Amino acid sequence: MANTNLANAKTAKNDEFYTQYADIQKEINAYLEYNPDVFRGKTVLLPCDDPEWSNFTKFFAQNFELFGLKKLISTSYAPESKKYKMPYQPTLFETSQPYFDNDKSKTHGKIFVLERDVTGDNRVNIDDLQWQYLEGDGDFRSKEICKLRDESDIIVTNPPFSLFREFVVWLMESNKRFVIIGNMNAVTYKEIFPLLKNNEIWFGVNNGAKKYIKPDGSLFNMGNTCWYSNIDHGRRHKPLQLMSMSANLKHSKHEDLRMRKQYVKYANFDAIDVPGYDAIPSDYDGIMGVPKSFLDKYCPEQFEIIGIAEGDSGKELGLKPYPRELKKLNPSLRDGQLYYIDENGYPVKPFARILIRKKQ
Ligand SMILES: C[S@@+](CC[C@H](N)C(=O)[O-])C[C@H]1O[C@@H](n2cnc3c(N)ncnc32)[C@H](O)[C@@H]1O
Repeated sequence: MANTNLANAKTAKNDEFYTQYADIQKEINAYLEYNPDVFRGKTVLLPCDDPEWSNFTKFFAQNFELFGLKKLISTSYAPESKKYKMPYQPTLFETSQPYFDNDKSKTHGKIFVLERDVTGDNRVNIDDLQWQYLEGDGDFRSKEICKLRDESDIIVTNPPFSLFREFVVWLMESNKRFVIIGNMNAVTYKEIFPLLKNNEIWFGVNNGAKKYIKPDGSLFNMGNTCWYSNIDHGRRHKPLQLMSMSANLKHSKHEDLRMRKQYVKYANFDAIDVPGYDAIPSDYDGIMGVPKSFLDKYCPEQFEIIGIAEGDSGKELGLKPYPRELKKLNPSLRDGQLYYIDENGYPVKPFARILIRKKQ
């Protein structure tokens, strides 16, 4: 029971944090650099937001005319439906409206729409945002929000991490373009890895450690987040600059590799182990196992992704089961995961590896 409570509290906390304006700006600019018309004439939906003060809403509303948007829709999740409980504090923006209802504000989500000039200053900007209560609580899985999803062209948000798998499935079934934030560990999920492998989705541009905003307004650092998208950007078409195998063995910053003077071959699969994306040899044509941070550098014209050496996916790739007597030497060995035998005859299991091959 105590454990369940702790887990729930953790999930709630993991879901309730907000994205900084500068991070949104930096990322969205990368798509605009590649295609200045990427948002022109488009309806953008920002679900799982808190539009009164979300930086996603602020950013897109401020740039409405510059991006040539057709319509901006942003929706929030009802405070009473959130797992993370905090005292509900309506904003001035809300209370100043005649239809403000203190009880409804707790139990219903809200929809904010920006489409035309309502203030009469001949500009469409943040002051023209109009809001209403949703019929339900704003759950992205509700019929009401699915309908908004289906009416939009592009979906942008930082969704609840506890529902990340579901959120990606929800996006994929809509066939829409999107830019979202997620945890880098999600790449191994069975709902997500095949999409990355088949180039249906890819990493955005500004991945890695970032500061996010806590409900109390303070900042905290999260190391493992990245952007996932199916909108093209220039970075993914830039091939990695690589050294040859012999140059790596002499000069690689990975000490292990220099000491060993060779790339190790796995004992249960015909591939070499590469300790980092910066140690991928330019002149090896076979399969290579690389850490998942490779995805941040992945250029589909340079490499193809063969699979992931994890559990059932690894077994499907044909990774041989490990001989049971090796378990005594290394209890962490698992079928479906890679291992190699080191110079002392000890079976070593590297961290999760993605298997890749140079494009011919
Ligand atoms: C990681 S926060 C990000 C908020 C905002 N998009 C931002 O980046 O500033 C995710 C938000 O989704 C909300 N949320 C949780 N479950 C949800 C659901 N089922 N449907 C819609 N929103 C949900 C959380 O309450 C939280 O406010």
